[in-house]
Amino acid sequence: MTSVALLMAAGSGSRFGADRPKQYLSLAGRPVLRHAAEALLRDGGVDAILPVCASDSLAMVAAILEGLPTLPPVVGGATRQASVRAGLEALAGDPPALVLVHDGARPVVPPGTVPALLAALERHPGAIPAQPVTDTLKRGEAGLIQATVPRAGLFRAQTPQAFRFAPLLAAHRTATAEATDDAQLLEAAGLAVALLPGHEQNIKITWPEDLARMEAALTPPLL
Ligand code: C5P
Repeated sequence: MTSVALLMAAGSGSRFGADRPKQYLSLAGRPVLRHAAEALLRDGGVDAILPVCASDSLAMVAAILEGLPTLPPVVGGATRQASVRAGLEALAGDPPALVLVHDGARPVVPPGTVPALLAALERHPGAIPAQPVTDTLKRGEAGLIQATVPRAGLFRAQTPQAFRFAPLLAAHRTATAEATDDAQLLEAAGLAVALLPGHEQNIKITWPEDLARMEAALTPPLL
């Protein structure tokens, strides 16, 4: 079965506050995006990567991913959801059976993640890695706690998320609300999404200290 991984890199990374979006920053001597792509491909099962990026980054992204099995980069949209949709639509003419969606700002895809996700698609239309919430959760407003939210049964969703292509495209085409991940759109369509174990090292680089932590974890290589 063919499978393509969308590598999402069209975000501006405004929370990080660097001169470049976080997916292009250097981590252990190579761009975060390159780490993410190599990690996606490491275990096999992904035939090609389709990068989705800003219109002024097409050439840079192609250069960063040089030598890897990539399709020509696609221009993303104003939101992550719009960017994923752009990637899916670019594949729709010659659709793969399976698609993975991965944040370009997540340089670590732990070994075994991709094979486990693809295996789960034999039983379910979607599958994601997720970590149980271990901190106590508070709802807050104006600096004061409003409530303690029971954490039992709560998970932190990670990427790569894997889907059968047709239902994910349909879910994107019929979406009415903004979703922060792709599983949410399948859930809204009433389709089952499997929860697989995530990994603490699968960090989405969001704040400068995330990059420092990853740097420490990757030198010398931990995985
Ligand atoms: O903003 P957030 O951290 O949720 O972004 C997750 C991933 O989605 C990042 O890799 C980012 O580049 C990507 N993204 C995108 N298009 C957007 C916003 C985010 O491809 N408009």
